[in-house]
Amino acid sequence: MRHDLILDRLAVPIVLAPLAGGPSTSELTAAVSNAGGFGFLAAGYLAASVLAERLEGTRTLTEAPIGVNLFVPGTPAPPQAVDAYAARLADDIRQAGVELGAARFDDDDWAAKLELLIATPVAVVSFTFGCPEPEVIDRLHDAGSEVWVTVTGPDEARLAVDAGADALVVQGAEAGGHRASFRDEPAEDLTGGIGLLSLLQLVRAQADLPLVATGGIGTGRAVAAVLAAGAAAAQLGTAFLGCPEAGTAAVHRQALAGRAPTAMTRAFTGRLARGIRNRFLDRHSTAAPAAYPEVHHLTAPLRQAGRTTGDPELVNLWAGQTYELGRQLPAGQLVLTLAEEARAALQQAQERLGPPAETAAEQEGSGAGRP
Ligand SMILES: Cc1cc2nc3c(=O)[nH]c(=O)nc-3n(C[C@H](O)[C@H](O)[C@H](O)COP(=O)(O)O)c2cc1C
Repeated sequence: MRHDLILDRLAVPIVLAPLAGGPSTSELTAAVSNAGGFGFLAAGYLAASVLAERLEGTRTLTEAPIGVNLFVPGTPAPPQAVDAYAARLADDIRQAGVELGAARFDDDDWAAKLELLIATPVAVVSFTFGCPEPEVIDRLHDAGSEVWVTVTGPDEARLAVDAGADALVVQGAEAGGHRASFRDEPAEDLTGGIGLLSLLQLVRAQADLPLVATGGIGTGRAVAAVLAAGAAAAQLGTAFLGCPEAGTAAVHRQALAGRAPTAMTRAFTGRLARGIRNRFLDRHSTAAPAAYPEVHHLTAPLRQAGRTTGDPELVNLWAGQTYELGRQLPAGQLVLTLAEEARAALQQAQERLGPPAETAAEQEGSGAGRP
């Protein structure tokens, strides 16, 4: 295990999750890191040149350490599955007055982004949808970066440890946005994924690395809970979507203010993700294939139309299970508030447990505390 990790030096053990697709901004990342937490910048869906600009922008706003998150590329899906799904969307497309996007496979500019991060390193590079090859991890280490790998099960945790990760981001099934699993396996949908508290215990039994807990953490009490369960920090995504610094679309913000339930779906992107239920999700989830990023490109114009016209029924309203607890505070203030709440919760838990049995017996023997 590496020593002197960034997680040991954080003033506040709260991490801003990477929030690809709009919400992630330089301002949000910098605000969290400036408050003593740790801010990630999402690189997903961005060309390397755009990521370079975002990084430069962030560096003008903070000197504190920041992280960048990359999507590990998958493999192309069978074209027939994508074509059949495209045909199914014809009505929605017509009604919205747009055209379907071109359902292409791409690797999200993987090589160019890695080169950028090796040339201009950040404190941490985290990965989602897979574990990079050990050579990639070695190169990032040589550049001075830590490598965190997101895992959703104990088997993935073992693979990440063997590949040389410095820390694991442990993503529970409660999480908003995409499930970070190394493979998107529809055959495993029936299991429903592993909840965060269970997963932290299972991963701890497999991996002697620092763990960053993520999924459904909406309050300081939950931050306290994951720290007590052995995590080195809590990573929150949905909780930051309402911050003024976030680039969250207005239609998404409005949905987050409601109470509709969340559900897992491949309907928008072809990869399993948690969002607030709406018409598109309900209509297409059972038919949507595992075909990412083909389906992501296919539905992009429809989702954009929904954001532009303010129609929430067409938009991927990513949200974790506790989204209704969201607070619209500036990000730095949210970090400090969560930390305060966590301290109070841990103290309450400590008081609830009382002193260790021996101390209690000694006090009893000495007559301390008797009327
Ligand atoms: C809008 C949105 C975008 C997200 N984008 C990413 C991403 O780019 N990379 C990633 O690793 N996780 C992403 N996630 C998942 C988060 O990293 C994290 O696992 C999740 O937000 C935790 O659950 P919570 O939303 O209940 O806090 C995203 C989540 C949301 C809500």
